[in-house]
Amino acid sequence: MSLLIIGGTGTLGRQIVLQALTKGYKVRCLVRNFRKANFLKEWGVELVYGDLSRPETIPPCFKGISAVIDASTSRPTELYALKTVDWNGKLALIEAAKAANIQRFIFCSAQNLEQFSNIPLMKLKQGIEIKLKQSKIPYTIFRLSGFYQGLIEQYAIPILENLPIWVTNENTCVSYMDTQDIAKFCLRALQLPDTTNKTFVLGGPKGWISSEIIQLCEQLAGQSAKVQRIPLLILKLISKVFGFFEWGQDISDRLAFAEILNIENNFSKSTFDIYKIFKIDPEEIIKLDDYFLEYFIRLLKRLRDINFEDVQKQKNLII
Ligand SMILES: NC(=O)c1ccc[n+]([C@@H]2O[C@H](COP(=O)([O-])OP(=O)(O)OC[C@H]3O[C@@H](n4cnc5c(N)ncnc54)[C@H](OP(=O)(O)O)[C@@H]3O)[C@@H](O)[C@H]2O)c1
Repeated sequence: MSLLIIGGTGTLGRQIVLQALTKGYKVRCLVRNFRKANFLKEWGVELVYGDLSRPETIPPCFKGISAVIDASTSRPTELYALKTVDWNGKLALIEAAKAANIQRFIFCSAQNLEQFSNIPLMKLKQGIEIKLKQSKIPYTIFRLSGFYQGLIEQYAIPILENLPIWVTNENTCVSYMDTQDIAKFCLRALQLPDTTNKTFVLGGPKGWISSEIIQLCEQLAGQSAKVQRIPLLILKLISKVFGFFEWGQDISDRLAFAEILNIENNFSKSTFDIYKIFKIDPEEIIKLDDYFLEYFIRLLKRLRDINFEDVQKQKNLII
């Protein structure tokens, strides 16, 4: 099976690429910047030029392809890219996939779309899910929650740098997940015909509230967090007045917004039912504690190395 991956340079996309290559798939990535994507080429990927904001560049990327995994989304730093990429680009992608008679289209969507249709990205994702279903292309949709990777910037780095962490008083659980595990589900879907034409709300095995994550980081960093609390009502008001969280923030921030809005979360026993469908043992899923532990160990090692290099440099100066 030859795979076309969109968003291969992204946080999730690169994990999908890596695992697809390990599994022996022939992988092609649609990329808009060859220099930035060079690491994928070094891994053994075929790079083709394509830009979701330039629909005419998409169809040629499908030559000889049998399945597509779309893990792309507009970069928040690119003004006005949201509609061009997450709507027009995705529609063009579906059209090209249909014309190429693609056997499976895997789309990475987000949880809680219905509750957040006032947030443009959520509304567009909801619309694309509908268009994909209507296209009659065999599909699998994953509605994802937040990624562990986003928590480093949200919690670990501010604690290490003694910067404030903004939280509300709400205790909403979010079942974050490591992108390595999400990638596993995406690839497993290709091997399981029963997952065709289905939507899965995918989350990690445990729901986490902000205070638990902060406590975990504090323990591992050996430092206290500067936690700043802001009432949910005020946050909602600010977001309404200034319209932020709408266009300018990155996806993890936008999803953090889901966290602070204190809605019923999707984490439940159905999570484990999904693991069963995908024949994935919950024990295989990377736990947030282990993810953070590994991050802090790597960081400490790096700091020790830097310290060692500095001492060596000083010694050389003295000699
Ligand atoms: N992050 C989260 O917590 C989270 C939670 C739920 C769902 N999701 C969804 O999961 C998917 C992956 O998210 P992520 O955080 O891994 O994304 P990401 O790191 O921001 O990566 C976005 C990818 O899309 C590509 N892209 C952007 N504009 C493009 C264009 N015009 N043409 C072609 N490619 C373009 C980027 O390529 P360049 O490198 O060239 O910019 C990059 O590879 C997305 O669909 C996202 O909505 C994410």
